[in-house]
Amino acid sequence: MKRIFSGVQPTGNIHIGNYLGALKQFVELQDDNDCIYCIVDLHSITVPQDPSKLRENILDVAALYLAVGLDPKKTIIFVQSDVPAHSELAWILMCNSYTGELSRMTQYKQKSGGRESVPSGLFAYPVLMAADILLYDTDIVPVGNDQKQHIELTRDIAIRINNAYGETFVVPDGRFLKEGARIMSLDDPTSKMSKSAPNEHSRISLLDEPSKIKKSIMRATTDSEGSIRYDVENKPGISNLLNIYSVFAGIPVEKLEEQYQGKGYGEFKKDLVEIVCESLAPIKGRYNEIRRSPELVDILKDGAERANSIAQKTMERVKERFGLGI
Ligand code: AMP
Ligand code: TRP
Repeated sequence: MKRIFSGVQPTGNIHIGNYLGALKQFVELQDDNDCIYCIVDLHSITVPQDPSKLRENILDVAALYLAVGLDPKKTIIFVQSDVPAHSELAWILMCNSYTGELSRMTQYKQKSGGRESVPSGLFAYPVLMAADILLYDTDIVPVGNDQKQHIELTRDIAIRINNAYGETFVVPDGRFLKEGARIMSLDDPTSKMSKSAPNEHSRISLLDEPSKIKKSIMRATTDSEGSIRYDVENKPGISNLLNIYSVFAGIPVEKLEEQYQGKGYGEFKKDLVEIVCESLAPIKGRYNEIRRSPELVDILKDGAERANSIAQKTMERVKERFGLGI
C-alpha cells in the first residue's frame, strides 16, 4: 500500500480542471492505497480571505470531496489548520530551503508580479506544501501539472535534509494524468482554467447549472478551420475541448477525432454539453445532500484526529534528528 497525499485550497469555484486534474485521481487511488486528502486553508490565506466566507468554502470543498466519491471509511479527510504540525514542520523546512529557489517558482512569480508589497506567506507557500506532503511519509502526490515545480522543490528539500541529518523523509513522486493534468480556460485556451478568472464562462464549476454549462461550452473559443483535430499548438481551443470530452467520456482522443471526422464544431460542442452535464449531475445531487448534513463536521474532526496522530510521529522523528526540544 502506498501513502497518497494531496490538497485543494478552499477558495471557491471548484471547476472541472480541479476535478479532472486532481479530484478524479483522488477517487481512483482510494481503493488500493492509504490516502490522505486535505483542505489546505492555511495556503488559501496567502491572499486575503473573508473569514466567514472561508469557513463556508472549507465545508464546500469537504462536501465536494465526498460528492465526487471519496469515502471517509477508506481515506482521511481533514482541514490543514486542524493539524498544527503543518505549520511547525513548515518552519523547519523554511530553515532548509533557499530564497533563490523559492523566487524561481513560476506560481510565485505570477501571483506576486506587479505588486508593491508581497506577503512572506506567498513566498513561503511551496514550503508549507512540502511540509504537508513530507509530514505523512507520502509516496505519491496526485495533482495537476501546475504543481510540478512545487513537487520538485519538495523532493529537493527532502533529499537535502536526508543527506544532512540522516534518513528523515520519504522522497515523494508527483502523479499527473495524461489528459486531465492541464485543463485550459474556455475563453482563452492558452491559459489554464482558474477559480479566480473574472469571466465565469472561462470555467465550468462542478456545481454549475446545465444552462450555464451549455452557454460556456457553446461560446468556448475555437478556431476558423472547422475540423476536429488534436493540435495544441495550432488549435488549442478544440484540443482542450477534446481533452475534456475524452476524460469525461472515457474515450481516447484519437477515437473522438475519428468519430467527429467531417462534422462541425456545433455538433461536437452539443454532444460535449450533454456528456459534461450528465457527468456532473450526480455529483451535484450528492453535494446538496452532504453539504447540509451534520455528519460533514464529524468526518472532518475524525479525519483531523487520525491525521494528527500520524503527523505527531513524524514530528518526533524530525525533532530528534534536528536536536530540537527536550
Ligand atoms: P487549487 O485549487 O489551486 O488548490 O488546485 C487543486 C488541484 O487542482 C491541484 O492539484 C491543481 O494542480 C489542480 N488544478 C488546478 N487547476 C487545474 C487545471 N486548470 N487543470 C488541471 N488541474 C488543475
Ligand atoms: N498548492 C496546491 C494547489 O494550489 C495545493 C496544495 C497544498 C497541495 N498542499 C498540497 C497539493 C500538498 C498537493 C499536496 O493546487
